[in-house]
Amino acid sequence: MNARGPVVSARGDANALLAEIAGIGTDPVRGGYTRPVFSAPERDLRVWFIERAVERGLEVETDGNGILWAWWDPEGTDAPARRDAIVTGSHLDSVPGGGNYDGPLGVASALAAVDVLRERGIRPVRPLAVAVFPEEEGSRFGVACLGSRLLAGVVAPDRVRALTDDTGRTYAEVSADAGFDPALIGADPDRLAAISAFVELHVEQGRGLVDLDRPVALAGAIIAHGRWHVRIEGRGDHAGATRMADRQDPVVIAAETIRSLRAQTLAVDDARGTVGRIVVTPGGTNVIASAVDLWMDVRHRSEDAVHTIVAAVTAETQRAAASEGCTVTVSEQSFSPTVEFAPEMRDALQSVLLDAPVLDTGAGHDAGVLADVIPTAMLFVRNPTGASHTPAETAGADDIAAGVDALSDVLAHLLTR
Ligand code: GLV
Ligand code: MN
Ligand code: MN
Repeated sequence: MNARGPVVSARGDANALLAEIAGIGTDPVRGGYTRPVFSAPERDLRVWFIERAVERGLEVETDGNGILWAWWDPEGTDAPARRDAIVTGSHLDSVPGGGNYDGPLGVASALAAVDVLRERGIRPVRPLAVAVFPEEEGSRFGVACLGSRLLAGVVAPDRVRALTDDTGRTYAEVSADAGFDPALIGADPDRLAAISAFVELHVEQGRGLVDLDRPVALAGAIIAHGRWHVRIEGRGDHAGATRMADRQDPVVIAAETIRSLRAQTLAVDDARGTVGRIVVTPGGTNVIASAVDLWMDVRHRSEDAVHTIVAAVTAETQRAAASEGCTVTVSEQSFSPTVEFAPEMRDALQSVLLDAPVLDTGAGHDAGVLADVIPTAMLFVRNPTGASHTPAETAGADDIAAGVDALSDVLAHLLTR
């Protein structure tokens, strides 16, 4: 045994693999896990992944975007000949206070599926990679699916290098401190051209499978979603000495923004609008704030509906700010259009998972970014609570095993056809 568990984990067992990392990145304050990109816990998870991949005889590389690739090559091929590859995997970073399944379930299941395929005597005719994408949650630098966006060339490297975390440190500084070279980030069309399919297994973030009483589903679509940074500036002053009529209080405007977002999303059937993060500057009980930063997350199947909601909230915030003597800027951090996963990939998966239901999701995924550039599909595993981005997220041992079986069936089909 080492600190993380047995030196060689049980083969084909994603439950055992997840148990090995259950102690990494636990958050004593929020509960659950806090595993931001380039943090010590995320580094430990990368080390764990590399160890587990190497012990399986996979060849591990870290690309310029910090994405880990663990390769199982068909006999008689080597790295330069890799093409027509099948890729599976997910992410290991988490939101603040998240669960142990959002991301890690897909990584552990991918490693376990390699074992299952070997136990079944599958001889791939093309390479298989297990990939781990960094900063999927965007919880450190604000842009979700940052690794896959860089790979796909849909975010500019200069913009990424300049992104800052909560402490004001740039991606360039933080990534360099963690041992990565920020000069190397950016689009990698050659790598993408060598991949013929990507399949991401993920814990379901909802109760679709609970309601259907089924363990595993295929993804139909990901609804459009985006993030907007709202900065409201006012005038800091004394809580006791400043008359109410004389205030330019940005916290009052932030409250208007939140109220407006709730009202605008309620007015659109099945829209989602969230403010989950607010920073008040300077943040004292007896201090009228000088500024508030808050972040809106808005989602709907219709991209237009998302933009209409954001425009309406922005207009209401600006009106309120003007009457308070505050100023507002609203800037888009990231936007992901609605993704309909490729029907031919879904057909390929359905040909082996005959009766798996198809479910849409309100959660974003690297698979959603990659769906634009390579044939992509997703599998979901039942989550009894339906909750995610909270320690209440869960998945049952039998369902996890069913997910590994389903992923193995799908990969066997894709690797040998
Ligand atoms: C990622 O899980 C997201 O949907 O925000
Ligand atoms: Mn995820
Ligand atoms: Mn997530």
